[in-house]
Amino acid sequence: MMHVWTWVVVVGLVCAVALTALPDRAPIAEGGPVARVLVIAHRGARSVAPENTLAAARRAAELGADGWELDVQLTKDGELVLMHDDVLTRTTNAREAFPERAPWRVADFTREEIQTLDAGSWFGREDPFGTIRSGEVRAEEAQAFGGERVPTLRDALLASSELDLFVNIELKGTPFAPLSSAGREMVEKVVSLVRELGMAERVIISSFDHERIRYLGEIAPEIPGALLVLSLPPDPVGYVRGYGAEAINPQVSAYDREKARLLHEAGYGVYLWTVNDPRDLARFAAEPYVSGIITDWPQRLRPLVAGR
Ligand code: G3P
Ligand code: CA
Repeated sequence: MMHVWTWVVVVGLVCAVALTALPDRAPIAEGGPVARVLVIAHRGARSVAPENTLAAARRAAELGADGWELDVQLTKDGELVLMHDDVLTRTTNAREAFPERAPWRVADFTREEIQTLDAGSWFGREDPFGTIRSGEVRAEEAQAFGGERVPTLRDALLASSELDLFVNIELKGTPFAPLSSAGREMVEKVVSLVRELGMAERVIISSFDHERIRYLGEIAPEIPGALLVLSLPPDPVGYVRGYGAEAINPQVSAYDREKARLLHEAGYGVYLWTVNDPRDLARFAAEPYVSGIITDWPQRLRPLVAGR
């Protein structure tokens, strides 16, 4: 009879071979469950660094995320910059730097003006996730965030390549409206940048404005698009196919395993947002048809999916 330690070694070797055979990316269009859910840091690792900055991307990579999600908006002079809100005031010092420019809308400032702003000090002041108070972020580190600038999408994509991060580019826009000229311009500029940098295989472009994703599919079928939704439609496969998208990104509370299975089996991705509750992280890390999880806490999710 084989000695118990021989069995341990044999089983260990089999597992090691199986794990190295896993793909880096969640496979689409396979019959079985997703092999490994992607860990995607929401607006970067925003629980430990100021959101939508290069510091947040660096922290995401250090914490073992596969990728990061970021928000894109157009400036007054038509440049693509990272910003979640329509206005600059929550995450920069725009109010103090430009006191006469209320209501400080991104679209009313040039790229150059926006890049004079401090996009990191607010994190140290507000401690939005309590990670400075808990000691997870050191005081000196928080202070150093004061040097962060609002990145352009170009800065963010170049940094992502260097950090070997996959990027979910969210195009901010109005849902359920006809495609606006600003929406069209944004899609065209993002496509041209992704093509120039040769990054079509490293990005997925998402939006609540599904007409932007339809347009993306028309002009750049090689760049995957994803539909952001608050609830899953009754016929999710038909819906995603109808917009020429590759994935659907539902709010976590809208998750439905049967619909996720249908989507996965039809070859479409399912990326959940924003999953932060520890029980949800554990549950969805083990869900068979989830392609990726967008979380503010990649450091909590990473150990739950490592080795799947
Ligand atoms: O991409 C998922 C999520 O980021 C969408 O919501 O408001 O955080 O941009 P929001
Ligand atoms: Ca977003």
